[in-house]
Amino acid sequence: MTSNPLVGILLGSKSDWDTVQHTALTLKQLGIPFEAHVASAHRTPEKVVEFCRDAEGRGFQVLIAAAGGAAHLAGVCASKTHLPVLGVPMKGWATEGMDALLATVQMPAGIPVGTLAIGKPGAVNAALLAASILALSDPALRERYLAYRQTQTEQALADDDLTLP
Ligand code: RP5
Repeated sequence: MTSNPLVGILLGSKSDWDTVQHTALTLKQLGIPFEAHVASAHRTPEKVVEFCRDAEGRGFQVLIAAAGGAAHLAGVCASKTHLPVLGVPMKGWATEGMDALLATVQMPAGIPVGTLAIGKPGAVNAALLAASILALSDPALRERYLAYRQTQTEQALADDDLTLP
């Protein structure tokens, strides 16, 4: 989905896509146009800076940054834009993603990053939090987001039918 994107997703590596695709799928489910790009704070910093610097002018309203390891991506994004930046820590090659969680969440005062959970739950919730932000000024999206939540509630209630095999 690329027309008039409202949410920009940056991921530090293509290897993050297995997880971050759940952000994209959730945005798509809610009818929120987005753009997703591989852009690394360490390997391609100019690409990150350029995207974030131009984001507001291009009509983006929320940015989502997902990275693992020494995860500086969300913080660098937040340094270059006043748009809300949501950070999703990826599970990397050690510490089950605790390294990325701390690197993403421990921003010094003045440059905020809204940090979600490690891995898939954070990837899904980043999309839902973006929806909730965008819904403040989009009544039709508000209805779609409320419907999503209602469906989830009904599913959880329907799941209360436990049986033994
Ligand atoms: C981070 O390093 C990326 O976000 C990824 O989670 C991790 C490993 O990247 P690759 O070596 O798989 O490209 O920058």
